[in-house]
Amino acid sequence: GGNSMSYNKKILDHYENPRNVGSLDKNDPNVGTGLVGAPSCGDVMKLQIKVNDKGVIEDAKFKTFGCGSAIASSSLLTEMIKGKAIKDATQIKNTQIVKELSLPPVKIHCSVLAEDAIKAAIHDYQSKQSKSNN
Ligand code: FES
Ligand code: FES
Repeated sequence: GGNSMSYNKKILDHYENPRNVGSLDKNDPNVGTGLVGAPSCGDVMKLQIKVNDKGVIEDAKFKTFGCGSAIASSSLLTEMIKGKAIKDATQIKNTQIVKELSLPPVKIHCSVLAEDAIKAAIHDYQSKQSKSNN
């Protein structure tokens, strides 16, 4: 439980003004799509990345059907990964999101969803690339 006073300003800001909401063309060979769910609460997060020929994430979009912390986590994540090389984006840990947003213990799985989503998006991108190189 807990009321809204237990959430810090940064969560509320990302919740009220989420960054990079939307979709990218999933048929674009340079776009990777990650779709993940949290079994414990049923929330779903879709994260898409567009990677340029230098292996840098030049765009990221998300849609999250879930709680405020999941939305804030995905919004923050898109800001963290834009401009990053995919090999660095794979290193992102949910604990960085927990720290940045001061997520309470019951909301830690929301940040895990964000970490799972970026890993899934990168995996999708890489499997598309290996197919198109055949
Ligand atoms: Fe998933 Fe918050 S419990 S919406
Ligand atoms: Fe489940 Fe936030 S409560 S993702």
